[in-house]
Amino acid sequence: SIMIIIASGMFRHVLASMDHQGKTARDCIEKGLLEDTRRIQHRCFGSLAEEGSSKLLLQPQTTEEVSQILKYCNSRSLAVVPKVEIQVLWAEVFLFFDEVVINMSLMNNVISFDKVSGILVCEAGCILENLITFLDNQGFIMPLDLGAKGSCQIGGNISTNAGGLRLVRYGSLHGTVLGLEVVLANGDILDMLGTLRKDNTGYDLKHFVHCEGSLGIVTKVSILTPPKLFSVNVAFLACQDYFSCQKLLVEAKGKLGEILSAFEFLDSKALDLVLNHLDGVRNPLPPTIHNFYVLIETTGSDETYDRQKLEAFLLHAMEGGLISDGVLAQDMNQASAFWYLREGVPEALMKAGAVYKYDLSLPVEKMYDLVDEMRTRLGDSANVVGYGHLGDGNLHLNISTPQYDDRTLAQIEPFVYEWTSAHRGSISAEHGLGLMKANKIFYSKPTATVKLMTSIKKMLDPKGILNPYKVLPHSIDSHS
Ligand code: MLT
Ligand code: ZN
Repeated sequence: SIMIIIASGMFRHVLASMDHQGKTARDCIEKGLLEDTRRIQHRCFGSLAEEGSSKLLLQPQTTEEVSQILKYCNSRSLAVVPKVEIQVLWAEVFLFFDEVVINMSLMNNVISFDKVSGILVCEAGCILENLITFLDNQGFIMPLDLGAKGSCQIGGNISTNAGGLRLVRYGSLHGTVLGLEVVLANGDILDMLGTLRKDNTGYDLKHFVHCEGSLGIVTKVSILTPPKLFSVNVAFLACQDYFSCQKLLVEAKGKLGEILSAFEFLDSKALDLVLNHLDGVRNPLPPTIHNFYVLIETTGSDETYDRQKLEAFLLHAMEGGLISDGVLAQDMNQASAFWYLREGVPEALMKAGAVYKYDLSLPVEKMYDLVDEMRTRLGDSANVVGYGHLGDGNLHLNISTPQYDDRTLAQIEPFVYEWTSAHRGSISAEHGLGLMKANKIFYSKPTATVKLMTSIKKMLDPKGILNPYKVLPHSIDSHS
């Protein structure tokens, strides 16, 4: 059983009793305890359970407490894992042994909001949906939105540079995060909580965005939020082939321009999963078999103008044969229902059985070739599904089977990584490398770059206590 402690003087006492149990990444590597990643991956996929079990979960209430915890853990070489609810089940929350868990959920205050600049300053444990609600009352929105908004925390979003559904419009967190407060492994507090749009003094130390908690723990954040625009339209469209989806994207960028706020796609296999496994969903289009579906959202400030613009665009696309069918949401309920068809895909996959998940950045024109090739490789043994953020060049390739098995995995990997690398793609577009993909980093980054990353890690966390075994490979020797 896990002991949960809201940090106070007491945590020192409990931590002291763990001294001999905590293992750092380096200890484990040196003692050969680190297991073969493929086995871990299989186990992780197979059980979807955390492998290790912590004896201690700390819930600090202030940055000072986070600093005290890390200072103490660092001095005793105790490994720590920042555990927050992020996206679905990514490896950042994976415990290996008995790492101390730091949960930020009590650091959940909004510190300030400037209505003129739209800059929000808040603590890292704020739930994304609560921030969305807070900003809604102020007439603003968060620049990111995810299916997991009800449980994920902004600190986790930042640590993984979560992309989400509106990146095509508002860009990545690397751009919208203006400042951070971070606690380093040795307990030092870095106050970089600037609220300036422009600040070219010295280096931009933004590598804490998407370091997956491996370089420091984000405690506060300042973020640029866009104003809430009231004219939102959502269209759910069918396309006959992938080439039409691509052409539609190019047309949408050119013709919808500044009002385009999302361009998502799913193939017919993904839609079938949603329709078969989720309650209360229905296909808004007549039951003809289409191969692809695209969700387009526009957000603007003028209802009449935006609607006309979208309708003209859709008519043009229909006449040009890019769209074979489509429907425009008539109210917010219908818009949410259309969104659910896309956002519900990961949930439907989980319900369908075992899932092998890949989150890839690829050139848009080549992206779906990988799905087709994977289907040919796996034949009838698996349901190969493609969906994702087409507007960002981000494919979610998910492979669904009744159970996990090594033979299927061997058919998928390393093929999927080699294919991605050959097309100069990224093997982790928006989910992070975590534990399962740490050793795969070389498919997307040259050795010299990984070496520099390793040096940064060694400089900031010499004992390797922060979220061990994740992000960086266990060894770079074989790649030198
Ligand atoms: C999504 O875009 O729906 C998610 O990033 C996919 C996932 O959670 O696997
Ligand atoms: Zn996604």
